[in-house]
Amino acid sequence: MSHSDTSHDPHGAPAENWLAKAKRTLPLVPAARGLSKASRKASSAAHKLQFLVEWGGDNPEYFDHFMDQHWQWSANQQSFPWERGVYSGLALQATAGAGLPEVLELCCGDGFMTYHFYSAQAKTVTAIDFDKSAITSARKNCSAPNIRFLLGDIRTDIPQGTFDNVIWDAAIEHFTEEEITTLMQTIRSRLKPTGIISGYTIIEPEDGGSHLHQHEYEFHDKEDLARFLQPWFANVQVWETSHPTRKNLYFWASDDRLPMQRDICLTQSITR
Ligand SMILES: C[S@@+](CC[C@H](N)C(=O)[O-])C[C@H]1O[C@@H](n2cnc3c(N)ncnc32)[C@H](O)[C@@H]1O
Repeated sequence: MSHSDTSHDPHGAPAENWLAKAKRTLPLVPAARGLSKASRKASSAAHKLQFLVEWGGDNPEYFDHFMDQHWQWSANQQSFPWERGVYSGLALQATAGAGLPEVLELCCGDGFMTYHFYSAQAKTVTAIDFDKSAITSARKNCSAPNIRFLLGDIRTDIPQGTFDNVIWDAAIEHFTEEEITTLMQTIRSRLKPTGIISGYTIIEPEDGGSHLHQHEYEFHDKEDLARFLQPWFANVQVWETSHPTRKNLYFWASDDRLPMQRDICLTQSITR
């Protein structure tokens, strides 16, 4: 049945679908596509300019991922920023059972992942970062009724309570080895017995140095990252993805089964 057949006038005859008729007679679809393309071009240029200003001279501690969405992804075919959202999203689906999971996100930065990848798959997301401008931006651009953005240093202010998931994206490398060890102990205490910690980090550059001056410890390889998780969790999975500009590490850890060992199925409606 075509769209034009779906409505009828009171006498049973198909009602005239004005939009279908207009599209047959006027170049509405090419015009709409042209408008979208022009707006993408303008948006891309604006976000590239934002990057040059924001990351020139010195760089902030977090990335505004709207620059990935509107500029870098298309300009450089750079898809890796979304990997973290997908992999931690699978961890949220794995803990969803009778209800959607309660999630703690550490070092949430601009809140882009919180909103676009996690909030629709969670009952609540408590997201914390110690950078005031990150939290201000997150509240302004990435808010949702089930997200609580908190300003705080996770070395001292990790929220109380227990959670189904802890997400730690692109931030474990911002801590020293001693701090990571201490934080793992606290994180373990915030996870329910079936809970999963998931996250993302970057592998150190092959030619030495570090990717960002704010990084305290960049990992050598999968084993180097796994050694921080294994003392605290019965099951640990670390894997690597490789892109032209970087090599990434992702992790899942739990005392229960890991996401791919569970029957992942988002059974809950995302309407809250
Ligand atoms: C590279 S950003 C990652 C942001 C976000 N998770 C993402 O994936 O885009 C690292 C974040 O860690 C935060 N951070 C670093 N040290 C922190 C600490 N001690 N407590 C809370 N947040 C911290 C920074 O402010 C920054 O927003």
